[in-house]
Amino acid sequence: MNKSSSDPKQRFKYYGTPGKDFARFDVNSDLPEEVQPTPRYEAHLGLQVFPTLPLIPPLNWGLFSGLAKRFGFRSMAGPNLQTWMPANLSRLHRDKFSDEYFVERRLNGFNPGKLNRVKDQEWQYAVNYQTGRYKAEPGGLLPEYSEARFVLEGSTLKVHSIKYSLKNQTIICFPTDAQKWEDAKYYFRSAEYVFQEIQSHLGRTHMNMNQYAMAFYRNVINSPIRELLFSHFEGLLSIDKKGAALIIGDTGFIPEASALDAKSVEGVLADEIATLTYHWSPEKQTLPDPIDNNYFDRAAVAMWELLKTYVAKFFDDNQRKIKNYWSEIEGMSEDLVTHSILKQELGTLAIKDEKDLQQLCVYVIYHCTFFHSWVNNKQYEDGGDIEYTAIGLWDKDDPNYDPKKVQERHDAQVKLMWSLANVHYNPALEFAPLPLKKLLWEYRDRIEPGIPLGLIMMSINI
Ligand SMILES: [Fe+2]
Repeated sequence: MNKSSSDPKQRFKYYGTPGKDFARFDVNSDLPEEVQPTPRYEAHLGLQVFPTLPLIPPLNWGLFSGLAKRFGFRSMAGPNLQTWMPANLSRLHRDKFSDEYFVERRLNGFNPGKLNRVKDQEWQYAVNYQTGRYKAEPGGLLPEYSEARFVLEGSTLKVHSIKYSLKNQTIICFPTDAQKWEDAKYYFRSAEYVFQEIQSHLGRTHMNMNQYAMAFYRNVINSPIRELLFSHFEGLLSIDKKGAALIIGDTGFIPEASALDAKSVEGVLADEIATLTYHWSPEKQTLPDPIDNNYFDRAAVAMWELLKTYVAKFFDDNQRKIKNYWSEIEGMSEDLVTHSILKQELGTLAIKDEKDLQQLCVYVIYHCTFFHSWVNNKQYEDGGDIEYTAIGLWDKDDPNYDPKKVQERHDAQVKLMWSLANVHYNPALEFAPLPLKKLLWEYRDRIEPGIPLGLIMMSINI
């Protein structure tokens, strides 16, 4: 493979079989020059990776490793690690195990947009995770099913109960059930964490956007769409290539630290991507009732609205040139369709006209900026405290139980969450084109307090 070939289709090769494997850059090939990390990115990353050095073998961190030893980072291991890590939001909360905080994080935590309205029940909302169809490792504790239910009192959401099944036993717990209730919430948070990482973070943002980035890089050269989207794809293929080994491969973080094995992780990922289409908008998941502290929906809808304005203006200003280079968009459309694994009943990723293209651009920028910033940058808020939540739970009564290994897994969790959540490369307020910056400021009262405006990045680069 020639990474400097002038044909973008030679430089950007897909992995696997079209329509069978989810569409992505083949990480076994070299990263083309135009998508390699910039020195500024490497420098920025270096500021944040000290705690995770042992976790990043694919990177050439010789220099940083030497520095880390000199500054004593070796001592960031062993029994003290978790308490020595910087405090996260749950540690700062006056009562992180309260039911009030439990509701607050389901609305505004690292895995938002999962509440569904239900009918004919004592409760009005539910979030459920079905893990049973995926294989858990021996000794791993992962409920096959877990559902948290919520009642609406005025404009306040309160937790009603949790139903879960574990080791073929179905259990329903209520807030009055003392320790059993706390256990139920802990199991729920753990199942949520696995799905947050695989579906929302890796699926909806990293891998979903990878398929659009591939179709873009392979086809869009002279169209103004290159200018519109280029900076929103910066760093994506590079971090996905690193992440393939670091996060989802056989020895990646999720299979290592969670109760799911590598094959199951890939299964959850593919199942999620098969449901994702750019013919989507946040209104599809917003809660139908007004809820006082539902900051996510408010921010998501505001972001979508401002991006629609921004993209429509860009199209107006570049109308003629977009038309002149429409053949590039046809090429993009063909690549998307050929390599898509979207379920048939959900339609197609084809770009039939300018309206489709505008919709696609809004969708891509929304996920590369706002949605990835939310699910990535809030990881430490929830996942930085093992007492509060762990991506993997292990059964002390199982013969495979190894306390040392569990400790190592939990240490890996807090260190990785810290680094991933703290790489803030290219904030949109600093690096976006002026019209987008202006709109972000204009909408800031609706985007905050869901997420601080300064935490919205231009692209998925970590
Ligand atoms: Fe990320």
